[in-house]
Amino acid sequence: VKAEEIQSKILSSLDKTNGIPNTAKDSYFKSLDIEQVENVLKSLSSRNMVAYKRLEEEVWDLTKEGQEIAENGSHEVRVFNFIPTGEEGIPLAEVQKNFGKIAAIGQGKAFKNKWIKKNGSNLVRLVDSVEDQVQKSLIILQETHASSDKAALKELKSRKLVEPKKLVSFQIEKGPEFSLEVKKQATDLTLEMLQSGEWKSLEFKKYNFDAEGIPTAGGHLHPLLKVREEFRQIFFEMGFEEMPSNCFVDSSFWNFDTLYVPQQHPARDLQDTFFIKDPATCGPLPDFIDKVKQAHESGVDGSIGYRYDWSEAEAKKLVLRTHTTAVSGLMLNRLSKVKPFRPAKYFSIDRVYRNEAVDATHLAEFHQVEGVIADKNMTLGHLISFMDIFFKKMGITNLRFKPAYNPYTEPSLEIFSWHEGFQKWVEIGNSGMFRPEMLIPLGLDPDVRVAGWGLSLERPTMIKYGIDNIRALVGHKVDLSMIKSNPSCRLDKKMGREVFGIQE
Ligand code: PHE
Repeated sequence: VKAEEIQSKILSSLDKTNGIPNTAKDSYFKSLDIEQVENVLKSLSSRNMVAYKRLEEEVWDLTKEGQEIAENGSHEVRVFNFIPTGEEGIPLAEVQKNFGKIAAIGQGKAFKNKWIKKNGSNLVRLVDSVEDQVQKSLIILQETHASSDKAALKELKSRKLVEPKKLVSFQIEKGPEFSLEVKKQATDLTLEMLQSGEWKSLEFKKYNFDAEGIPTAGGHLHPLLKVREEFRQIFFEMGFEEMPSNCFVDSSFWNFDTLYVPQQHPARDLQDTFFIKDPATCGPLPDFIDKVKQAHESGVDGSIGYRYDWSEAEAKKLVLRTHTTAVSGLMLNRLSKVKPFRPAKYFSIDRVYRNEAVDATHLAEFHQVEGVIADKNMTLGHLISFMDIFFKKMGITNLRFKPAYNPYTEPSLEIFSWHEGFQKWVEIGNSGMFRPEMLIPLGLDPDVRVAGWGLSLERPTMIKYGIDNIRALVGHKVDLSMIKSNPSCRLDKKMGREVFGIQE
């Protein structure tokens, strides 16, 4: 039955009568699927066209055997009818052959009712005809789901011909918006409706806030982005500003020279850095190139410099930036223009590129997490205690620092933490105090100290998500279902220990 048919039947019945007191008592509705009727009622009542009540009643219904008897007659009547009239009757064996399993019940009941008797091995009728009360009661019960005859009902129950059942039905009345015709409701407000003014006369479908909706198919964050977000929150919590790190191509000047990386440094070789072919060089360099040149050639602030002829052409070569410290340098140069000096804390988390041999843990591009702090009178002690706090936010305590070398920091410290699983100290980052040879040409006052540090984003992400090959995390071999299903990340204390594999 179509929903429209049920709908118009409900409306026309309501139109003719004052209401439908009980659909179970209506020959049309009685035969319909309850759920379908309820859906039609829900939709009509949501529009106030009808009001309805759901009725639930415990009633009697026929069992499978009961239905069979309602159709074919009771076993006892069928056995009785099988026996011919007359003194001779029929051999018991015949009855058993004909009725099989039900022969015994049929005979038993027929004996009890005094309809038949035994004559030797034959069954003989005692009366001429019998009435099938059982079948009659069952037929009435099938129609009305009730019986006025208590004894008969008791008998049917004990013979397991009837059983209790929950009967759902509806009481339906007209609603305030009752009408025989169901106006089609508009679902979306369109531009055309607004322009034509049609929206004024239209009836709009109510919004169903309980609808499940279509599951969204897209919009999953890559694990690197999830971990990045966690680091960002730690930085924000500690009062850092995010640096604009969206300049992936930069000049050698910003990537190396301002950071006091000499032009002969191996990091500036083709084997280590990607140089841009077209355009191969940048436009005019900033106005402080002379200071950078001087720092490299003869030094600043008591330093003697590297003592070579600094080349502007070399500084103009464009590269894919090899570290985000290029951005830190730019930001420190901008900071130097703020007068009077104000302390600053900057961070960035973005891509860097290196011409590396690609293997399971290295790609030619990766993300650096970088932070710098600029203030007067800062010392190495501040950097170390800051590292303690920063890593503690991820549950990583018990740091150790090892002297290292960076062209732009002195002292430089590699940061280590104890790895319980590997039973050894593992490097988790690199840091240092930026050199005056870098800071003075950038324009900072000589008493401004800047501490910086960096770590990779990939390493904690791979550990956190149990990925042991970087190609499963970045590139064309990434399994998209992994991106969709992996959980969000929290670099809280517990998580941090797990991510870095470290225990207190
Ligand atoms: N740029 C360094 C690297 O690539 C990280 C770093 C940043 C070190 C700032 C010291 C200061 O490893």
